Amino acid sequence: MEELDKDNIPRHVAIIMDGNGRWARKRLMNRINGHRRGMEAVKNVVMASRELGIKYLTLYAFSTENWRRPKEEVRALMSLLGKYLRSELTLMIENNIKLISIGNIDNIPKDEKEVLLNTIEKTKENKGMVLNLALSYGGRSEILDATRALADEVKKGELESSEIDAELFSSHLLTSEIPDPDLLIRTSGEMRISNFLLWQVAYAELYFTDTLWPDFNKEELFKAIKEYQSRERRFGKTGDQVSPSEVDVL
Ligand code: IPE
Ligand code: IPE
Ligand code: MG
Repeated sequence: MEELDKDNIPRHVAIIMDGNGRWARKRLMNRINGHRRGMEAVKNVVMASRELGIKYLTLYAFSTENWRRPKEEVRALMSLLGKYLRSELTLMIENNIKLISIGNIDNIPKDEKEVLLNTIEKTKENKGMVLNLALSYGGRSEILDATRALADEVKKGELESSEIDAELFSSHLLTSEIPDPDLLIRTSGEMRISNFLLWQVAYAELYFTDTLWPDFNKEELFKAIKEYQSRERRFGKTGDQVSPSEVDVL
């Protein structure tokens, strides 16, 4: 496989990990088996990201809307989360990975919440890569919470509404500590955002693949980054402004 440009690795990669259910159905298995295999893919992709030098990896593990799934499936997903965190703590420490999470974790069952907070605490000094789990996360409620917080500050007279700009707004989001994603990947052929990082993906490069999440691996990640490296990120400017050509403009 062709080499990646080491100077152009996306700083922040965000992934909508979709297709576990269909992966299982194709094999006449229970959806939960798909989630179990999905967890193996998470382990591989976290390590591959670390090796590639990605600084921030955000994984959409459970959306606010996913609470509407059958009780047994929600239960199984939560228990897999606990299992994943317990099994990966040593590896996270060895590889200098810092775990953080965004979302409303008050909804997460007690045991899993405990192991999550414990993992966050034990890895908080790590500097190699930030692994950000979006758990019980929804982009709209994140934006609404930020809006309410800003409205309160204005009401108390601590802030003028004219002072609210993009930077201040971003600082009130759950992602205030991390940069916006450069690359957003969604697996399983769906081409939608499903309430993920609505504000933050404003200028992310989007990459969709038909590969189902349990089949996603280092090679697939490599392919996505290769594609990212072939894109020209213009941020509203012209191509010539971003990468001036040798030819003089007439
Ligand atoms: C993604 O796989 C995992 C979660 C949303 C938690 P799905 O469970 O959505 O798989 P499909 O979309 O039904 O195939
Ligand atoms: C998005 O996948 C949420 C996660 C990957 C956690 P879904 O499978 O829930 O999305 P929709 O419902 O098909 O849009
Ligand atoms: Mg799905």
